[in-house]
Amino acid sequence: DWTMAEFREAKIAEIRAQVGKGKVICGLSGGVDSSVAALLIHEAIGDQLACVFVDGGILRAGEAEQVVGLFRGHYNIPLVHVQAQTLFMNGLAGVTDPEAKRKFIGKTFIDVFEAEAKKIGGAEFLAQGTLYPDVIESVSFTGGPSVTIKSHHNVGGLPERMNMKLVEPLRELFKDEVRALGRELGLPDVFVGRHPFPGPGLAIRIPGEVTKERCDILRKADAVYLEEIRNAGLYDAIWQAFAVLLPVRTVGVMGDGRTYDHVLALRAVTSTDGMTAEVFDFPSDFLPRVATRIVNEVKGVNRVVYDYTSKPPGTIEWE
Ligand code: XMP
Repeated sequence: DWTMAEFREAKIAEIRAQVGKGKVICGLSGGVDSSVAALLIHEAIGDQLACVFVDGGILRAGEAEQVVGLFRGHYNIPLVHVQAQTLFMNGLAGVTDPEAKRKFIGKTFIDVFEAEAKKIGGAEFLAQGTLYPDVIESVSFTGGPSVTIKSHHNVGGLPERMNMKLVEPLRELFKDEVRALGRELGLPDVFVGRHPFPGPGLAIRIPGEVTKERCDILRKADAVYLEEIRNAGLYDAIWQAFAVLLPVRTVGVMGDGRTYDHVLALRAVTSTDGMTAEVFDFPSDFLPRVATRIVNEVKGVNRVVYDYTSKPPGTIEWE
């Protein structure tokens, strides 16, 4: 049985042996996995590691600032923060198919990342925060049907194209183990305990067309929902909680006026690895309070619904 301290030491030795005097580039997504991978690799090889954070404007409220602050400020690890919001929004214009969104986002992350890697120059290794469930959800099991439910773009693609060798120190770990390792590496609890967030980000929480305006509405509503969840002391009991902005408008009434605005769906599930999930049951006064706050505070939303679907048959994300 491994302790996280032993795992950390063993991985550091393994990374040093694999990389030697080589240079490693790590793409940070803003999430826990790539951050933990980067910290571990930085501990192993110091400034042979370069970190690139591509900001496509599809993160939650405050997340980009948090990651940049953590790396540059707290750990003093140099980080290139690429402002690619316009590129992403322009490319997403008119795209409504979920897999087309994933493909565009995955490809664009790679394009931008590759261009930055060229500027940095000389890197032979690419670091990724791939976890064990990413590895197994991406292979088709022998004997079973070979069906891709969703193409998770954080596995595959990039290394082949860039002709780089992979450094994936978290490949054997489940999410809870990555969190334990993050704590071991001194990551703050609020950061380590953060709910998982998909690579394509808010784009797959906006069925239909993704625009900057819709991302902004969703960010605001999502922040209210998460703030209420934290205030109620429920954040850590939930695997993932998030809002989904629907491309449907309904009629409402505010003051003496008629409104005609978006429907927002709220989702919260419990899970241990994301492969199956149960709906989280909030105390009865919670959702009405959140719905009222969101409709009052977030311009563009006039109706809030709750998603009661477990996985299976639903998936956690809506797209
Ligand atoms: P689903 O929606 O497939 O989600 O039940 C299972 C877990 O995976 C996350 N997810 C993704 N993560 N790229 C990612 O990096 C993706 O395209 C993607 N799609 C879903 C989801 O948030 C959940 O934790």
